[in-house]
Amino acid sequence: MIASPLIELIAREHPAFVHIPLGLVAVLPLAMLASFNARHGRVLTGTSFFLAGIGWLASSLALFSGLVWGRQINLIAPSGYLPVVASEKQVLQRILQVHILAAVSGFLVGGVCVFLLWRVWRQNFSSDASSDHRHAGRRFWERGVGAPALLMAVIWLGCWGFSGKLGGIMVFGNEATNKAAAEADAAKRNDAEADLPIRALDYASLEPADTAPSRSKAHGDRWRRIWVTASGIDAYKAGKPLPPGAYAVMSTFTDDKGKPSTEPGPLYMKETKGDGTTAFAFYWPRVPEALQKDFGGDSVYWRSPDPKLATCLGCHEKGGAATK
Ligand code: HEC
Repeated sequence: MIASPLIELIAREHPAFVHIPLGLVAVLPLAMLASFNARHGRVLTGTSFFLAGIGWLASSLALFSGLVWGRQINLIAPSGYLPVVASEKQVLQRILQVHILAAVSGFLVGGVCVFLLWRVWRQNFSSDASSDHRHAGRRFWERGVGAPALLMAVIWLGCWGFSGKLGGIMVFGNEATNKAAAEADAAKRNDAEADLPIRALDYASLEPADTAPSRSKAHGDRWRRIWVTASGIDAYKAGKPLPPGAYAVMSTFTDDKGKPSTEPGPLYMKETKGDGTTAFAFYWPRVPEALQKDFGGDSVYWRSPDPKLATCLGCHEKGGAATK
C-alpha cells in the first residue's frame, strides 16, 4: 500500500474517524421518526437524507482507514481484507473479523437506506407544496421517510453499534483480550531462553567430554569441544542417548591454518527433553560477513521446532548417537 503521510494519518486516526459516521447514523433514526409528523414531514425527510448521505460517505473513509491500519499493524495481510485466525488464542484477530463483518454489513444496509431516502426526497421535491395535504392522508407507515427506510436505519445503527463496541474492546481491551495478552507475557517471562540460549552459553559449567579441541566435518569443519550435563555424561561416554533432562553443548572455533583460531564460532546444543523428545539449538551471535547471506542475518538464534534446524535432525535421528 502507498505510504504517504496523509494515508498514515488516516490509518492511525481510524478510532477517531469512525465517530463521524457513527454520530450521524445515531441521530438519523430520530430525524426519520420525526418525519412521520405531518407538519415537518418534508423538511425532516430532507434532513434525514442529508444525515444518511454524509454518514454513508464518511463511513467509506472510515472503512478505508481501518483496512490500512489493520495492514500497517500486521493484523491483516498486505493484500488481504480480513485477518487470518490460525488458533483459538488469537482473540484479537477473532474480534477484528467480526468487527469488520459488522462494519461492512452496516455499510451495505446503509447504502439501501440512503437509496430509499433519496427516492422519497426526490418525490417530495418534484411534487408541489400542496402535497403536504396529501401526505397527511397517507397511511402511517407511508408518511415521512416511510417505515422501510426507518427499519433500514435501525439495522444500520445496530450493525455499527456492535462493530463500534468491538472496536472499543480492541483499542481499550476487555477481559478476554487482556487475559490473552497477559498469558503471552507470562509465557515469554517463563521462557527464560526466548532471546538467549542461557544454558548453552554457560557450557563451561558442564562436564567436558573431551580434553582437547578436535575438528568436526559434520559441523561446518569447525574446531569444537563438547560439554555435557553431569546427568548425561556417563551415557554420553557410553555412546547411549542422553537421559531426559540432560543436554550437550558443542562450543566451536574457526580453523586457523590447521589449528583452532581465537574466533569463536556458533554454539550447538542438543537436549533430551523431559518427555524424551530431542530439541536442538543453534546460536551464533556474530556471523562473519561472508556468511551472513546464507544465515539470513548478522546474528542467529534458532531453537526447535524452527524448520532451519531440520538438517540437525537429519543426522541426529531420535536422540540416538549421531551416525557418521
Ligand atoms: C552431517 C551430520 C550432522 C549434522 C547436519 C549435525 N550434526 Fe551434530 N553431530 C554429528 C555427529 C556425527 C556428532 C558426533 C560428534 C562429531 O563427530 O562431531 C554430532 C555431535 C553433536 C553434538 C555433541 C553431542 C553429541 O551428540 O555428540 C551436538 C550438541 C550437536 N551435534 C548439535 C548439532 C546441531 C544443533 C546441529 C544442527 C545445527 C547439528 N548437530 C547438525 C552429526 C551432525
